[in-house]
Amino acid sequence: MQIQQKFFSDNGRSALPIAPQQSDDPLAGYALQLLARRIPELPLDTVLPEMEALAEHEQIPIIGPLEGAIIQALLQMRHPAPRRVLDIGTSIGYSALWLARGLPAESKVVSIEIDPQRAYLAREFVEKAGYQRQIEIIEGDVMELLPTLGMFDLILQDVIKHVYFGKSAQLSLQLLDYCIEHLVDGGVLLGDNAFCMGEVLLEDADELPVQVLGIKAYNDLVATHRQLDSVILPVRDGLWLSHKRG
Ligand SMILES: C[S@@+](CC[C@H](N)C(=O)[O-])C[C@H]1O[C@@H](n2cnc3c(N)ncnc32)[C@H](O)[C@@H]1O
Repeated sequence: MQIQQKFFSDNGRSALPIAPQQSDDPLAGYALQLLARRIPELPLDTVLPEMEALAEHEQIPIIGPLEGAIIQALLQMRHPAPRRVLDIGTSIGYSALWLARGLPAESKVVSIEIDPQRAYLAREFVEKAGYQRQIEIIEGDVMELLPTLGMFDLILQDVIKHVYFGKSAQLSLQLLDYCIEHLVDGGVLLGDNAFCMGEVLLEDADELPVQVLGIKAYNDLVATHRQLDSVILPVRDGLWLSHKRG
């Protein structure tokens, strides 16, 4: 298997290729088409497609509607409902909105973003969708902030494919430790890009970008972790779903 696209430009920095919002599998297309027929909830259901279009145009990575709706459903199925949810990697606020959509009004989403321009855009979209009371966007580095933020009932981690994590493959493991430490017993940990666009299947470590090595190491640790029961949902670029043992 060839490494398809080793480095892509992301605001001038080296980054891994961006996983498309939707897979080209016709059955995923069918599922999406049915999802699009849901009774709209306004203004959120006009803001989300606007964000999808912007992300597509500007090559900004977001989880896309299928993954978003799955995450919403997971939250809605938790009883009692999660009170505090953490979104790691806000981007333009798309995943934060899907998370908030799955929660009762009194529950909160804390979302962390390192890039001030993205955090700014995210706040604009969150306000436009009417979720500013429920979603708090914090600007900064998750590796510094997470240890200060207390405990969460559910965490969505969507950063380890990013440029920042190219510094060392160990960073993804450190982030996994922080996430588990700050997740309540019985809580849920979600992790995006488990497949890293197929690059996790490549064996030759010398050829692989550090982020891919980090994701492979992260996947191995999640799969074998004593405190987690985990499975990858093979949706889009692979979504880890883990339950923290009590
Ligand atoms: C894949 S995007 C997140 C997409 C978002 N979850 C969504 O679906 O709407 C990853 C984001 O994480 C941010 N990021 C990367 N490294 C970070 C770090 N160390 N701390 C906080 N945010 C970081 C990037 O700037 C980028 O906007």
